[in-house]
Amino acid sequence: MKARLQNRKIVLGVSGGIAAYKACTLCRLLVKLGADVHVVMTEAATHLVGKATFEALSGHPVGVEIFSQAQRISHISLVKDADLMIIAPATANTLAKFTAGIADNLMTAAFLAATCPVAVAPAMNVNMYRNAATQENIQTLKRRGVYVLNPASGPLACGVNAEGRLPEPEEICEFICTILGERLTLKVDPLLPKPQKPLELMQTKLLNPAFGAGLKVLITAGPTIEDLDPVRFISNRSSGKMGYALALAFKNCGAEVTLVSGPVNIKAPEGVKLVCVRSAQDMLTAVDSLAGEQDIVVGAAAVADYRSLSVAKDKIKKQDGVDELCLHLIKNPDIIASVGMREVNRPYTVGFAAETSHTEENAQSKLIRKHLDLIVLNNVAKKEIGFDSNDNEVTVFNKDGKVAHFKTQPKSIIAERLVKLIIESFKACL
Ligand SMILES: Cc1cc2nc3c(=O)[nH]c(=O)nc-3n(C[C@H](O)[C@H](O)[C@H](O)COP(=O)(O)O)c2cc1C
Repeated sequence: MKARLQNRKIVLGVSGGIAAYKACTLCRLLVKLGADVHVVMTEAATHLVGKATFEALSGHPVGVEIFSQAQRISHISLVKDADLMIIAPATANTLAKFTAGIADNLMTAAFLAATCPVAVAPAMNVNMYRNAATQENIQTLKRRGVYVLNPASGPLACGVNAEGRLPEPEEICEFICTILGERLTLKVDPLLPKPQKPLELMQTKLLNPAFGAGLKVLITAGPTIEDLDPVRFISNRSSGKMGYALALAFKNCGAEVTLVSGPVNIKAPEGVKLVCVRSAQDMLTAVDSLAGEQDIVVGAAAVADYRSLSVAKDKIKKQDGVDELCLHLIKNPDIIASVGMREVNRPYTVGFAAETSHTEENAQSKLIRKHLDLIVLNNVAKKEIGFDSNDNEVTVFNKDGKVAHFKTQPKSIIAERLVKLIIESFKACL
């Protein structure tokens, strides 16, 4: 197997389920994939598998007790710099503690301190699994952004054939690679379990905090507003959520981010420089003055294609006996094309295509026409994704064709995966 987890720190939590023995194989597979694995066990788990086994497999001391002088593993240092914490098997008891925020052992305290993605693989007797308390705990954890790997069905240790088995270690490994965004190809893009709440409540940092350090990134977001008179305007349904999620994801991996935003109802992420604009022409002026100093420009704004030839000074009045009103519209500047076509100081340029028909052809021809490096296509005809929804599904193209497809997932996660792809593609061009 290729070292797909090279340079990844993974904290493997083993709680006291009968499937703890499978965690030994999991630990071995993760190490084989290049991961730096740190194991933490609950006291109950040590009755089922020896600590020494994990120490030999991981090459690191195994933490159990929170106050151990001998071990000197702190719950904070354990998860600091970790790329992922996974608990496999996760007992009903440990899931309940996670949900309640109890921190009475090294593993539960580390869970609370973790800012990396956290995944759990519940495994237990089927009645324990189906118990309302366990089910509610699992739902709560999912809602908070914890990835849950559903148990498999099959023969359980208690003798019945039902759900509750820990999935095979190879399957858990694939799950981990998926969460860490190690698979960006078209062939394999399994759907990540879908957290149900917006980003603020999630432990879903897929990106290494230094991945984009030193990069200057400008993102346009939201709609533009084209005035007709002092009270009326032409605009569109863009909420700005995708552009703002991208700004946060770029910022979270260390980039210096400028967000040029049309009017939206969301707050800009802290640490991002916000430039507020209204019309397409305002946006062009802002982007023009800043693009030359950027490494990457991403055009996620839904810029109005047309504006009124003139803006009436006074409110346009309804006229008696006149049933029609003709508006004279003229074409707006193409902002992202103006960046893509720059002859000097041209940044790596990424556009978005919101299409409703012939989506792939339209996106690819836009990429060429506007001189873009990448284009991100979303099919806004699909109700559950696109404008104003929390989810998105996108396909990314470069001049050679499709480079990635991300199935329907929260915009925050799509943003992190896009940021990883954009930065990698940008670095490959250097
Ligand atoms: C032999 C044995 C096997 C067990 N297997 C499981 C199991 O698969 N899943 C589970 O949730 N609890 C299981 N339990 C019960 C847990 O060990 C018990 O709830 C314990 O308090 C869990 O502690 P922990 O969550 O701190 O590891 C088992 C207990 C024993 C004695």
